[in-house]
Amino acid sequence: MKRLSLLLFVVMSAAMISAQLYLNPQAPIEDRVEDALARMTRQEKVAILHAQSKFSSPGVARLGIRGLWMTDGPHGIRPEVMWDEWNQAGWTNDSCTAFPALTGLAATWNTDLAFLYGKMLGEEALYRGKDVVLGPGVNIYRTPLNGRNFEYMGEDPYLASQMVVPYVQGLQGNGVAACVKHYALNNQEVNRHGYNVNVSDRALYEIYLPAYKAAVQQGGAWSIMGSYNLYKGEHACHNKYLLRDILRDEWGFDGAVVSDWGGAHNTDEAVANGLDLEFGTWTNGTTSNNKEYDNYFLADPFLAGLQEGKYTDEQLNEKARNVLRLIFRTSMNSQKGFGSMVSAEHRLAARRIAAESIVLLKNEGALLPLSTSAKVLVVGENAIKMMTVGGGSSQLKVKYEVSPLQGIEDKIANANKILPDNKGGVKYERGYTSGPNIIQDAIDFGEKLDETRSEQQLLSDAVTAAKEADVVVFIGGLNKKPHQDCEDSDRESYGLPYGQDQLIEALAAANKNIVVVNVSGNAVAMPWLRKVPAVVQAWYNGSESGNALADVLFGDVNPSGRLPFTFMQRLEDYPAHQYGAEGYPGVDNQVYYKDDIFVGYRYADKEKKVTPLFPFGHGLSYTTFEYGKPQLSAKNMPANGSVTLRVDVTNTGLRVGREVVQLYIADKKSSLPRPVKELKAFQKIQLQPGETKTVEFVITNSMLQFFDPDKHAWVAEPGEFDAIVGASAGDIRGKQTFRL
Ligand code: BGC
Repeated sequence: MKRLSLLLFVVMSAAMISAQLYLNPQAPIEDRVEDALARMTRQEKVAILHAQSKFSSPGVARLGIRGLWMTDGPHGIRPEVMWDEWNQAGWTNDSCTAFPALTGLAATWNTDLAFLYGKMLGEEALYRGKDVVLGPGVNIYRTPLNGRNFEYMGEDPYLASQMVVPYVQGLQGNGVAACVKHYALNNQEVNRHGYNVNVSDRALYEIYLPAYKAAVQQGGAWSIMGSYNLYKGEHACHNKYLLRDILRDEWGFDGAVVSDWGGAHNTDEAVANGLDLEFGTWTNGTTSNNKEYDNYFLADPFLAGLQEGKYTDEQLNEKARNVLRLIFRTSMNSQKGFGSMVSAEHRLAARRIAAESIVLLKNEGALLPLSTSAKVLVVGENAIKMMTVGGGSSQLKVKYEVSPLQGIEDKIANANKILPDNKGGVKYERGYTSGPNIIQDAIDFGEKLDETRSEQQLLSDAVTAAKEADVVVFIGGLNKKPHQDCEDSDRESYGLPYGQDQLIEALAAANKNIVVVNVSGNAVAMPWLRKVPAVVQAWYNGSESGNALADVLFGDVNPSGRLPFTFMQRLEDYPAHQYGAEGYPGVDNQVYYKDDIFVGYRYADKEKKVTPLFPFGHGLSYTTFEYGKPQLSAKNMPANGSVTLRVDVTNTGLRVGREVVQLYIADKKSSLPRPVKELKAFQKIQLQPGETKTVEFVITNSMLQFFDPDKHAWVAEPGEFDAIVGASAGDIRGKQTFRL
């Protein structure tokens, strides 16, 4: 009897476990997905395909299947918003660490830091109970007017690919999904819901898609966000070419496609063309007992079509599978931890990444680094303005943000404390004003930036103070207000706003020891460049921006950031602006990418009349590096083999420093036009004074290929190639020729 009941117990438990395979964390995900799917009704399957609030989608309560919580993204965890509104909910425990915006991350050219970034961000997401981070963004920098460039990783598909993969891996290691956005061709904000991109297959595959492909195939991204714009006349959120043909069929994506908020437009296309999860379809959600969500394209209209036989259960199951897979990877991932917010580790990571992102553009007469015993005058609104505020959906509510002025004051105060004879000092003058603060989504830190002085008075007060100072540090740039690096609007001109050019000229005339710090996510015109000895590019660097900037200005950190995009002299020098309104921002909802594959340095290399202010990959150091002659392991490369290029790099200065050694490849003769050279590898190395390291690059066939639109394939044509070693796209240190 006893034995029988034991047997019964064993059989019953086994039956229960197998009965609830989808709940068994040990079971393979695909088995869990199939098991869950088999238990769900049609209604339940449809329900998990669309939002139930601004940022959440439901699970299946009856079966204990959890829903999903999304959050922006991409450089910090967005504050909690109301169930049905964009405005914040007013929680008191949702203040985050702001990490540097992604142009800053890209400017580190440090893949280890990209991993660290993703890992830290994921921990904050976990703590806040979020399953999917809406980011990173990898839209290519086509025009410096794009209001969202600061959320992306620059102009080069290879650099963006290298940086996005570790970000995704670091993040997803927490059991939090990346949602790589905005797929694809969302390279401007003007008319973002309405423009249709006309682009060659070559430019699509060579320039605009590689970073997404890398995120999917190498990073293993669990979700991807469709963009607002159209391509081939179909909205990107339900676009057969982008989602079915390329993402699923060519790249083998097994994650979920999420719409951008309000990016879905009709049920037929959404059902047929690969959208899995619909969010933000315009509704206030509250006027009819939340029934608005039932009206989403992938809600009742889909269900009705299924009942009528217009859509198939196969179509439904495919989507439900993709969403269930995302659920089991994230919200029902039993391996994940609890996360943490604003930990010491997060602060340190934010500071390190920010400091390593800062690019020293110019440093004549070694004005930098500054001495902490100097009398420093800081001028400019960006020295005091919170830069985590504004910019659109990536705006954050931070636990703290160290402003540049604060960072500089702390640095000098600390030195004065430690060294009693140190007599450094800091004064501040506003110099210009951008007008009253704009409050977005009810995030108001009570920051008082009101100014009563006239423009003229501000300028003359700053100039008077400049005459008294040992050194002037001007901190200006753009500021995340609409048209100044902000979602849903592009910049209206390439120049600095608010009279900053005149102010810089006047300050430079008053004091020749002037450092200009440009805070922005975009290149800007610098008509005063020759009159200013030192220029620094800082980004929207988050919570630690002021400390990081001070670390670089005073030499505690030797700058090693490199530009992730080309700084042209004039707007007209950007290829997107060569073709009138058709090229940008479009005519009758059509934008033509006539610049084709010649984006950024690819254009500057080709057009001899265009000389960038600062080339792609440029960045100085407080030390100097010398390159030896590159050596190749062989002069001939077999079709499926490789050659190795070695180059010695020596630190010839007096400080430890980091150099980014860049490898470009040039195809000497090709059946289709090719860029003069293209970045195919890079290594960031640290060298002690006097130290030499040998950098090794293995060159393989795939690094020689271009996309042949007729064959719809990547091909490398036999012939001669140059392997070019540079410190930037404009600073070539050596080359070697080999033959494929
Ligand atoms: C933006 C996305 C963002 C979403 C949710 C959209 O307007 O384009 O980048 O993730 O809103 O806030």
